[in-house]
Amino acid sequence: MPISVAFVCLGNICRSPMAAAIFAKYVDDEGLGESILVDSFGTAAYHVGEKADCRSIKVCRKNGVPINHKAKQIDSKAFAQFDYILAMDKHNLSTLELMAPAATKARVMLFGEFRTLSEYDRIVEDPYYGDDDGFEKNFNQMRDFSKGLLAHLRKNYSLDRKLIR
Ligand code: 4NP
Repeated sequence: MPISVAFVCLGNICRSPMAAAIFAKYVDDEGLGESILVDSFGTAAYHVGEKADCRSIKVCRKNGVPINHKAKQIDSKAFAQFDYILAMDKHNLSTLELMAPAATKARVMLFGEFRTLSEYDRIVEDPYYGDDDGFEKNFNQMRDFSKGLLAHLRKNYSLDRKLIR
């Protein structure tokens, strides 16, 4: 069974699709695409069906990270489907904690708990009403958190490496 990871923000158009894209790129580059499933959701429904924000697409493209996602809202089924449900900020985290059934297999936590460098704030701030700088800052934080998350999964699970030709 693959390990499954869901990234969650508010609208699922700025931060969490970018988190999923960055982490999936690391996973694919390591040949672990069949061992780790990656997805993303919003806690709110405002943008369901929309593509990622053009500013998230821009910073991903600039860094060679493929991003292709249509916004979805999280529901209670996710708590039975995913091993990790990783929130971008404390507001997202408390929404998820309120939604989580008493017995959930999912570990619900801040993505920033996986940071490897303390220079990065654990909170991935909402960039929606700001400018491109906020998206760049989010990208740099999430690149570091993705490294830490992958190291954590490697340490705690035996992941099959599929050789890429
Ligand atoms: P996200 O950013 O949660 O990172 O996708 C936002 C997107 C949309 C809104 C807020 C934050 N909004 O208010 O519509």
